[in-house]
Amino acid sequence: MNVLVTGANGQLGMSLRRLAAGAPDRYIFTDINTVQGYETLYLDITNIEAVRITCDSEQVDAIINCAGYTNVDGAEDDVQMSDLLNRQAPEILASVAKERGAVLIHISTDYVFDGKTPHPYSESASPNPLNVYGTTKLAGDRCVAESGCRYLIFRTSWMYSPYGKNFARTMLRLFREKPVISVVYDQVGSPTYAPDLAAFIVEIIASGKIFRNSGIFNYSSEGAVSWYDFAKAIHRLSGASCEVVPCLTEEYSSKVERPRYSVLDKSKVKSVFGVKIPYWEKSLERFFKDIK
Ligand SMILES: NC(=O)c1ccc[n+]([C@@H]2O[C@H](COP(=O)([O-])OP(=O)(O)OC[C@H]3O[C@@H](n4cnc5c(N)ncnc54)[C@H](OP(=O)(O)O)[C@@H]3O)[C@@H](O)[C@H]2O)c1
Repeated sequence: MNVLVTGANGQLGMSLRRLAAGAPDRYIFTDINTVQGYETLYLDITNIEAVRITCDSEQVDAIINCAGYTNVDGAEDDVQMSDLLNRQAPEILASVAKERGAVLIHISTDYVFDGKTPHPYSESASPNPLNVYGTTKLAGDRCVAESGCRYLIFRTSWMYSPYGKNFARTMLRLFREKPVISVVYDQVGSPTYAPDLAAFIVEIIASGKIFRNSGIFNYSSEGAVSWYDFAKAIHRLSGASCEVVPCLTEEYSSKVERPRYSVLDKSKVKSVFGVKIPYWEKSLERFFKDIK
């Protein structure tokens, strides 16, 4: 099977690259940028003709869309770009997937929820995004679901990895640069180690499960934690000497409203795919091994 990966030089894409070499399927990695040492086919997913030509020439059977506008703060000032990448581009991929009879695996977010209910959100919970990023991601989910293509949408949360910009890597940098840092303790969610999600996706492609299932599924690490407690765990494992103190969302300068509680209920993905999801602290230990 031929699997096209878009946004292959981002966090999830890079995590897929490491696993694809050992997979039975052929993976084609595409992005609009390059990373030294990694082969990347240029593909801008906002260009439907380019997507069509690449999918035809590579005889694509499945698309994993790892591209997106992921800067939550930046999206507030760049609504057009956020809409282009998070809504219009998935619509383009879904339409080409439909033409080819290919499966589209699309990645979405916990930020489609408002976090006002302190219970884990199931796939059927009513979304109510609080910010531009969440609004455009939800619109993208709806475009994919209504396109008539075969699709799997995985909603994930708080993704981190050895690659790119993410909370864990930012914390490690701040621990080196500052004597004290404040981290919010009134936003609770589940961190997700991108290589865990990548391994799950590679496995369901290899086993053919992507052809037997469709719909929206939640996937994040097991457990729930505040950003502060997550930072404290990173701090402990790093051995840094900087002090980490808790603060309230109101004390943190961000113009973007974020959900206070966005833990995802993973019962559906576990029962449908039989996946065993690692506990967040175990995955964080693996992150430290991987970055060594
Ligand atoms: N990160 C999180 O915490 C998180 C949480 C929940 C859900 N998600 C979702 O998970 C998915 C993957 O996230 P990620 O953190 O791996 O993303 P990421 O690291 O930001 O990577 C996205 C990649 O897409 C590329 N890209 C941008 N515009 C493109 C275009 N027009 N055509 C093709 N590629 C393009 C980016 O290139 P440039 O860097 O050059 O722009 C980047 O290499 C996204 O859909 C995101 O919404 C992420």
